[in-house]
Amino acid sequence: MNIILFGPPGSGKGTQAEQLCKKLNLLHIATGDIFRENLNQKTDLGNLAKTYMDRGELVPGDVTNAMVRDRLDRPDTAGGFVLDGFPRTLPQAEALTVIMKDLERQIYGVLYINVSDEEVVNRLSGRIICRECQTPFHKIYNPFESCPFEKCNGEHLYQRDDDKPETVRARLETYHTQTAPVLDYYQQANLMIEISGAGTVKDVSQQALQAVKSLA
Ligand code: AP5
Repeated sequence: MNIILFGPPGSGKGTQAEQLCKKLNLLHIATGDIFRENLNQKTDLGNLAKTYMDRGELVPGDVTNAMVRDRLDRPDTAGGFVLDGFPRTLPQAEALTVIMKDLERQIYGVLYINVSDEEVVNRLSGRIICRECQTPFHKIYNPFESCPFEKCNGEHLYQRDDDKPETVRARLETYHTQTAPVLDYYQQANLMIEISGAGTVKDVSQQALQAVKSLA
């Protein structure tokens, strides 16, 4: 099963993707994480992406589409995946349709996590993440000093540069102008399922799991 997790920045896509992948044994593919991994490794792609991410803008479509095609074409995606953070524009959605056709794969559904702008600001201002496994935590809702997972060996949690208030505002603007129209594309394809992201992580997980089971 191949699923897209869709929603504004900070809606909980990364958090819910982790839960769904664990429960359903799917692979989590997040374009933001791939850009950040490249940035940590100081690759050309990472340095290019940073200039856009720091301004709350989208990395150019041709670079992003090629990166996603390459990732989806790897054998570890065969058991199904959760795509988080892509597509984010209509041209990206159209490109994904072509990529899936070329790879003889199919998107089963798009889970839209609906959260208000106010809650986004609340969540992102307190978010801290592990540099090693990229898992998001929260200073108030899910507080840890260091990553609790053994494989990360006590890695210190840090705040993302693009979670500064002015960048969060720019990301929300980008979402409303460029990303939200993608919802229509998937609504017309009859693939979109909306869930409320306003409850606790557990509440939202239950809704997400139920929605995914309805697709199966
Ligand atoms: P990306 O990393 O994808 O960022 P985003 O979409 O803005 O999403 P976030 O990772 O900020 O939030 P999330 O929805 O995953 O929420 P999370 O689970 O962490 O992209 C970053 C940048 O990369 C973009 O701005 C762009 O520049 C570039 N980029 C990426 N993809 C691109 C593309 N396709 N094209 C072009 N450019 C691209 O949760 C947030 C916080 O809330 C956490 O602290 C979490 O613990 C907490 N939380 C989660 N759920 C709950 C809950 N139910 N209750 C309370 N707290 C909660």
